[in-house]
Amino acid sequence: MGEHDFTSIDIGRVAGQAVIDSYIESYGHRLKVNLDEPDVIIRVDVIQNEIFIGLDTTGDDALHKRWYRVYSHPAPLNASIAASMLRIAEWKKEETIFDPMAGSGTIPIEAALAGRNIATGKNREFAYFKIFDMELSPQKENKNIMEIYGMEKFRKHVEGAKENARVAGVDDTIHFFQGDATKFSGMEADVIITNPPYGLRIGSKKMIEKLYTGFLSKAKEILCDRGRIVAITASQREMMEAAKKNGFIIEEKIAVKYGDLDAVIFKMHI
Ligand SMILES: C[S@@+](CC[C@H](N)C(=O)[O-])C[C@H]1O[C@@H](n2cnc3c(N)ncnc32)[C@H](O)[C@@H]1O
Repeated sequence: MGEHDFTSIDIGRVAGQAVIDSYIESYGHRLKVNLDEPDVIIRVDVIQNEIFIGLDTTGDDALHKRWYRVYSHPAPLNASIAASMLRIAEWKKEETIFDPMAGSGTIPIEAALAGRNIATGKNREFAYFKIFDMELSPQKENKNIMEIYGMEKFRKHVEGAKENARVAGVDDTIHFFQGDATKFSGMEADVIITNPPYGLRIGSKKMIEKLYTGFLSKAKEILCDRGRIVAITASQREMMEAAKKNGFIIEEKIAVKYGDLDAVIFKMHI
């Protein structure tokens, strides 16, 4: 970026030669350049008059991509955000966790993978490990029974979530079922983590406020007036109104840039 009297091809040539020369000096042999299937990618960016040199340790696939996403929901949650929400909630494996608007099941599936110590990057080739001649040493799988529940209004999403969980290898850990978050209170949970619809279409704000109010009213019963909720939405005002009506205390609001959306992760308790 910026105006320079050299091109990106010049940068590539100089940087590439520097890597080759330095390797010859340290290890006595010349590295081969393979632009189609490289083992290691070195990125060089010149921004104005600064140069940034980095090692690509993750490859071309974004870190949030998961192998288990065989059912495609129209509005799936980014899996890395789902995993972060588990941490924000400080969920422990022994606690019952419930997503009442589970869609294709990303939050319950990420919980089951984390709870069972299954690495979400297990199918990736990390260049980092190749460079430093390391091996991924998988953690011992946790086989303890966990209480993870996902509910969803539409049957086709319930079936999709079950299919994703099967591919993830955690279908025996999660119980997915059909139901309405504004009506259901037939269980007890310690933590509710969810990604409700945002209602971004014109005219849907009233409907969303009603949905959030109904959901939080039932959540209070499910949490038995204790426990906590972590929810992500781009309809911040509606979530705050619904929380106030139901007597929830907002502990934390974390801004998340989600594509073009300005979303917020709410952490709240009774
Ligand atoms: C943003 S999506 C959730 C996506 C999900 N986190 C995923 O990764 O696939 C919101 C979901 O809430 C469901 N939903 C809407 N109203 C509901 C209600 N009253 N009860 C239960 N689920 C509802 C929608 O059908 C939709 O699947």
